[in-house]
Amino acid sequence: MTNRVCKALNIKYPIVQGAMAWNSMPELVAAVSNAGGLGVLGSGPMPADIALENIEKIRAMTDKPFGVNVFLDAGPMLEEKAEKLSKANIPVIYIDTLNILTPDFTKKYYDIFKAGGSKILAKINCLEDAIVAEQCGADVIICKGLEGGGHKSKIAAGILLTEVLEHVKNTPIMVSGGIATPKQMAGYVMMGAEGIEMGTAFIATEESPVHENYKTGIVAAKDIDAVYLGDCTGEASWQVKNQKALRLDAIEANNVRSVAAELFKKEAAGSGRIAAQTGDTQINGSIMCGATVALIHKISNVDTLVRKMCEECEEILAKSTTLGI
Ligand SMILES: Cc1cc2nc3c(=O)[nH]c(=O)nc-3n(C[C@H](O)[C@H](O)[C@H](O)COP(=O)(O)O)c2cc1C
Repeated sequence: MTNRVCKALNIKYPIVQGAMAWNSMPELVAAVSNAGGLGVLGSGPMPADIALENIEKIRAMTDKPFGVNVFLDAGPMLEEKAEKLSKANIPVIYIDTLNILTPDFTKKYYDIFKAGGSKILAKINCLEDAIVAEQCGADVIICKGLEGGGHKSKIAAGILLTEVLEHVKNTPIMVSGGIATPKQMAGYVMMGAEGIEMGTAFIATEESPVHENYKTGIVAAKDIDAVYLGDCTGEASWQVKNQKALRLDAIEANNVRSVAAELFKKEAAGSGRIAAQTGDTQINGSIMCGATVALIHKISNVDTLVRKMCEECEEILAKSTTLGI
């Protein structure tokens, strides 16, 4: 095995299932890890004890490595999580950055988790954070572009990856955001990525715990059905266009930013969970996703998806083409 991501994370295929709060729950995490990728528990907003309960459920379903999401923010749960999760023998801590990282703060928590035997998988949204992550000893770095689901990226995946590879030389780099096909994976490998992360593509799988309407909403959506909303709150993200999205869009369009932010947060609160749990994907629920929806045409089985991505990627790379000039 020469792939440095696989070696660092002790996995067969360099595919990470991105942490998704309350969506990437134990069944999905274990399915991805059993398929040879790295499943990651969507534990960012979970209190430490709830995360620990879910970790036990994952362990009952797989003996393969898995990841646990920790938000590296200054929030009240971080100390307790650092203390409890660092003692739980977790293979990989998946650190999502919600702010520009400062080296001292970052190193403090990397060191705590590393002392507990965990590998550090750092997901970053800008070059500055990638440099800090490498300096502080991240084992693998994921560059997440604005095409991706969830919050906070402002730079397209291909630009961020290229920029990070110009500066970060000693840590394996993965790429994330908008990826759902082996061709895209092969393209990014040609550009220097050593693996990929997918989030939305894993929501549309048999093993994903969300309501069927959520999955079929992703499959049915075309490119312009993915709308990017919430800029007024500073935490914009993609969702599939529906009645709820139109109401949110109107709030942003019809109010000055400071007023819109509060109204938007109130209207949006809990809407992802409503869609995922009740299947109301039209009126009160939001199908949170990435721009990737355009490329997802069916509900897959996790094992098939992981193998297909890597095997077809290898075939494409082996045949790799010429410009013909
Ligand atoms: C519904 C949803 C929830 C997410 N929640 C989180 C989260 O809690 N923590 C996190 O680090 N990233 C979160 N993300 C981002 C994913 O981990 C991943 O980086 C992203 O989905 C990759 O882009 P893709 O969806 O285009 O594949 C979320 C993404 C989605 C779609």
